[in-house]
Amino acid sequence: MCGIIGYIGSKEAYNILLQGLKRLEYRGYDSAGIGITDSKTGKIVLNKAVGRVEKLKGKEIKGTIGLGHTRWATHGKPTLENAHPHLDCSGKIAIVHNGIIENYLELKDRLKKKHTFSSETDSEVIAHLISENYKGDLRKAVMESINDLYGTYALCIIHQDKKEIVVARNGSPIVIGLGEKENLVASDVSALVEHTKRVIYLDDLEMAVLKQDSVEIFDKDGKKIEKNIVTIDWDLTQAEKAGFKHFMVKEIHEQPDIIRNTLNLEMPKIKNDFKRIFIVACGTAWHAGLVGKYILEKHARIPVTVDVASEFRYMDPIIGKGDLFIAISQSGETADTLAALRLAKKKGAKTLGIINVMNSTIARECDDVIYTRAGIEIGVASTKAYISQLIVLYMLAESLSGKEINGLKDLAAKALKTVDLKVKAQEIAKKYFRVYNFLFIGRNINYPTALEGALKLKEISYIHAEGYSAGEMKHGPIALVTDQVPTVAIAPKDSVYSKMVSNMQEIKARNGRIIAIATEGDKDIARYADDIIYIPKTEEILTPVLAVIPLQLLAYSIADMRDCDVDKPRNLAKSVTVE
Ligand code: AGP
Repeated sequence: MCGIIGYIGSKEAYNILLQGLKRLEYRGYDSAGIGITDSKTGKIVLNKAVGRVEKLKGKEIKGTIGLGHTRWATHGKPTLENAHPHLDCSGKIAIVHNGIIENYLELKDRLKKKHTFSSETDSEVIAHLISENYKGDLRKAVMESINDLYGTYALCIIHQDKKEIVVARNGSPIVIGLGEKENLVASDVSALVEHTKRVIYLDDLEMAVLKQDSVEIFDKDGKKIEKNIVTIDWDLTQAEKAGFKHFMVKEIHEQPDIIRNTLNLEMPKIKNDFKRIFIVACGTAWHAGLVGKYILEKHARIPVTVDVASEFRYMDPIIGKGDLFIAISQSGETADTLAALRLAKKKGAKTLGIINVMNSTIARECDDVIYTRAGIEIGVASTKAYISQLIVLYMLAESLSGKEINGLKDLAAKALKTVDLKVKAQEIAKKYFRVYNFLFIGRNINYPTALEGALKLKEISYIHAEGYSAGEMKHGPIALVTDQVPTVAIAPKDSVYSKMVSNMQEIKARNGRIIAIATEGDKDIARYADDIIYIPKTEEILTPVLAVIPLQLLAYSIADMRDCDVDKPRNLAKSVTVE
């Protein structure tokens, strides 16, 4: 949830850290800071700011060893004192931390007897703990200290007298970049790829010591180990906006290509030898799982249950040997999904990941993984990753059933027509961007589409939006309907079309305004809807892919008209690596 970065080499560290933090800002952007061992005084100098990384610009500290941090506040408000890096009392040790230390209050009570705290954060206890254990060997001091920590951490530590960066990981991602006479460490590859494409992914309870000319990795017992070096296969241009106003709208427009790329995936052979499928995920990935239930049950006739990971991990689920557990995650680092995966494994289930970020923690801990081919997704609101997750679920249903899904191959071309609906979405957005409440309704395989449409709108425009199964309207939500509460009705020409029409009539009867997502050529719908966005005709089972695109475009247009920060919505982060 926070972004951390470290640099050690022969170049000035400050701007390298600053640039890297900008690439990590999607992980959290409440406050930021950089700490560098000043090459003149030999002392660690900090520069912190509340708000965006940009505020650290132009206040360079000279030195070639340093750490940086961009924060998503968990303990303590976004203030200068709570911004990282944190120092120990002597000011000789600096740390940056991503994760949550569950037992920090107990540690703080013990440490307060001899140490003075300057922040409300859980992270600061780590700096003082290391200081207590430091007797000249920084790695040893860190190793002793992390034994007292209960919780998750991705940690980088420097000592003013040492030309090294010590790194430790448990539950929060860390990747090391191997350069020429320099080495880097960060929360993810996007902060490293302009310096090196050769990286090492640390696993839980591993540590590393980075020097200018060497990187040593240690296991949880302090034994030196070898790790394989991964070569990254994408570059920074993919991470740029390519002329679009925001990453999100660029990523929406990439979806036809993503569908094509994902359809070309080599599917791993998943034996259909299990009793039940459990799909577990969070947020948009959970919506993909809900669509996946309809797909797998309709096409492969396998019983599927779907849960949000934060519920699954605490419900003592009845899962075990003979079951297939599928974790869906764009980042592959979501703490709740990771915990649910570990629980399912412990209970004996076979595990499969549908993941976007290569070599992410969830990807590496699943028995099998199918990588979605969505490329790096920067916008905090997930769009292309969602589409790619759906395509993988269709392909999984084909693979498990041995039967093709008609129309799947034509989907990319139809999606291309659908992303052209941006102008129509903008027209409609102009009428509704000032309302305070929205309803989204759908049925059957498009009930999850309604949930996803509502999530897109609420998370980037801050308008309250609720997704509902249309059949549920009469059981309460219809009480909300007035001419100030518009409803988006997902009503393609499918097996439940007539039921959707009844729901739209019930809403019209109460002066509710309706925006319908309808199938090209459907003239009747105009009798029930105030505004219509037509999507190309396709098989019913495939409609969620085409129906969600106008909802993404509508949410984007409304948020942009409300001058919201579309790519970095308030209070959110791209990867929720804390629970
Ligand atoms: C998506 O628009 C949201 N930003 C969020 O719900 C996201 O889908 C959720 O946090 C899960 O993330 P993951 O796919 O990386 O696990």
